[in-house]
Amino acid sequence: MAPTAVNGTSTGTSGREHEVVRQAPAPGEASGRTPHHPVDLEAARQSIRLALPEPGSKFSQDDEFCVVAQPDGSWGEFRFHDYDRIFQVPGLYEKIFYDVLGCDSPRFMVGLLDDALASSGVAASSLRVLDLGAGNGIMAEELAAVGVEHSVGVDILTEARDAALRDRPGLYADYRVADLTKLPAEDREVLAAHQLDTLTVVAALGFGDIPPLAFRTAYDLIAPDGWVVLTIKDAFLEATDTSGFGGMIGESIRSGALEVVRRERFQHRLATDRSPLLYEGIVARKRGPLAG
Ligand SMILES: C[S@@+](CC[C@H](N)C(=O)[O-])C[C@H]1O[C@@H](n2cnc3c(N)ncnc32)[C@H](O)[C@@H]1O
Repeated sequence: MAPTAVNGTSTGTSGREHEVVRQAPAPGEASGRTPHHPVDLEAARQSIRLALPEPGSKFSQDDEFCVVAQPDGSWGEFRFHDYDRIFQVPGLYEKIFYDVLGCDSPRFMVGLLDDALASSGVAASSLRVLDLGAGNGIMAEELAAVGVEHSVGVDILTEARDAALRDRPGLYADYRVADLTKLPAEDREVLAAHQLDTLTVVAALGFGDIPPLAFRTAYDLIAPDGWVVLTIKDAFLEATDTSGFGGMIGESIRSGALEVVRRERFQHRLATDRSPLLYEGIVARKRGPLAG
C-alpha cells in the first residue's frame, strides 16, 4: 500500500504486511550521534517495521494496538498503552506515534506556549517547568528548542525515565518516577525545591493515563500566575463529563481560575482506523486553585 501524507508526515506500513526487518541498533552501536541522541534514534525508528490493524477495524483509544516485526521474523503485538514495553525499544514510540500516526503534539503545544510567552514579554529561559507524563522526553526536547533551560520530568514508569535518559540525556534537570495520586513526601520536597512555575501535560491526560487527582497534585506544585500547558479531549472538558476532568479543568476555565490565553483544536494524531483524533490544546495562567 502506498504511504499517505498525514500532517506533512509520511505514514509507514499499513495492513499486515510481512517484511524482513533489521533489528534496531542496540544502545552504543549506532553511528552519526548527536549530543541529545546517543542512540541514533533516526536509524532505529527507520529500521522498525510495524503494521496497523485493518483500516475498517475500530478500537477505543484504550485498546489500540499494532504489531511489530521481531528479529526472528515473528510479529509481536504492542498495545499503545503498554508504554513500559514500547519505551524499552529505542525508536518504537516515535515510529508508532510520529512516523505512522502523524503525532506532532509536543511541537505544536510548545509553539502555542512560545507564542503566548512572546505576547506577555516573558522569556522562555525564565520558566521552570514540571513536565507531567514526561515519557521519553520529547517535550523536554521541544521546550529546550524554544529556550527553556529548566524542566523536570515526572512519570509513573521507570521505563519512561530510562528511555528519556537513554535517548535524550541532559535535557531534564531532574526526572522523578512517581505516582502523583500518592506523592511520597520526599518527591514532594524535591519537586517543591525546583520552584516550578509551569506545568506541561501533553498527550497524557485521561484514557487510563493521568487521572484528575495526579493533575491536581502537579497543579498545586506550580507557583501562582504560573503557566499551564495541556492537551485534552474536548469531551473531557464538558460539564456533563464523568471522568472528573470536566468538573476540575472545565469548571476552572469557566470560573477563571485557569485563565486561558491560547486554545486551539488540533489533530493530535490518527487513530488506527486512520480517522483524526482531535484534541484541545490549551495554554493558561494559574489564577487560582482548581475547582472541585
Ligand atoms: C502518550 S505518553 C506522552 C509522553 C509525552 N508527554 C509526550 O508527549 O511525548 C503518556 C505518558 O504518560 C505517562 N503516565 C500515564 N499515567 C501516568 C500517571 N498516573 N502519572 C504520571 N505519568 C503517567 C505514561 O507512562 C507515558 O509516559
